[in-house]
Amino acid sequence: MSAQIIDGKGVAARLRKDLGEEVSQFREATGVVPHLAAILVGEDPASAVYVRNKQRACEKAGIKSTLHRLDAATTQVDLLELISGLNGDDSVHGILCQLPLPSQIDETTVLDSVTPIKDVDCFHPENVGLMVQGRPRYLPCTPAGCQRLIAEAGVETSGAHAVIVGRSEIVGKPMGMMLVQKGDVANATVTYAHSRTKNLAEITRQADILVAAIGKPNFIRGEMVKPGACVIDVGINRVDEKLVGDVDFDSVVGIAGSITPVPGGVGPMTIAMLLQNTLTAAKLQAE
Ligand code: GUN
Repeated sequence: MSAQIIDGKGVAARLRKDLGEEVSQFREATGVVPHLAAILVGEDPASAVYVRNKQRACEKAGIKSTLHRLDAATTQVDLLELISGLNGDDSVHGILCQLPLPSQIDETTVLDSVTPIKDVDCFHPENVGLMVQGRPRYLPCTPAGCQRLIAEAGVETSGAHAVIVGRSEIVGKPMGMMLVQKGDVANATVTYAHSRTKNLAEITRQADILVAAIGKPNFIRGEMVKPGACVIDVGINRVDEKLVGDVDFDSVVGIAGSITPVPGGVGPMTIAMLLQNTLTAAKLQAE
């Protein structure tokens, strides 16, 4: 039997359409146009594509987006000054600083400088703390997208064993925190696995829900997957000009119960969740 392919692109398109309607209702009621300010430092072509996709999605949903492009040699002081200006600009509701940043800039210092109410990536420790305590202001975009896809696949999370492979601050760590919470699409028993984990395959084979967020192309192979498991592939790796995930799709698709493709799985959901957070930000700041 072949796994159900979870159509992230389709789900994201539906969410974005609904969100567009919510944006216009909000605009009619308040006169406020939600506004995302994106910052792109340097010339990384992949980052430029991601930011462009985010901006296009904003515009289609009726969200204003402005792009602040900075030179690769930009100093940390200059970047902090830009963010400080955006923090104080009442017409800007969300601030997104695309990662990675050039090596002369300390990522943590920069991300911490975004005022928490405008932190639509949910990277600020205040927002991470609120999320971990089960009273989120924003949800981190990629884990929120994964959670939504797990729900779309009709997978029961309560009491399920979710194994998260990868412990990044952006995806792995918050993903586990969200699935372990009390609530819908949650109540899972969570195991974190990472590069130092021993007997990794033994652990991944116990997963009812397997989230691969390690950044290694085709890392999760069929023999590491429990038959019938829900496999969520967060990886976006470029191999010979082709996009591949962290999951070896061909060897897993015949074993898993459901699986997200790359591209067309988690990626489009991340953008939809960013739009959702930007609307939430505008609402919170209109209060
Ligand atoms: N770089 C890769 N993923 C992300 C993300 O979700 N947000 C930002 N700001 N940068 C990224």
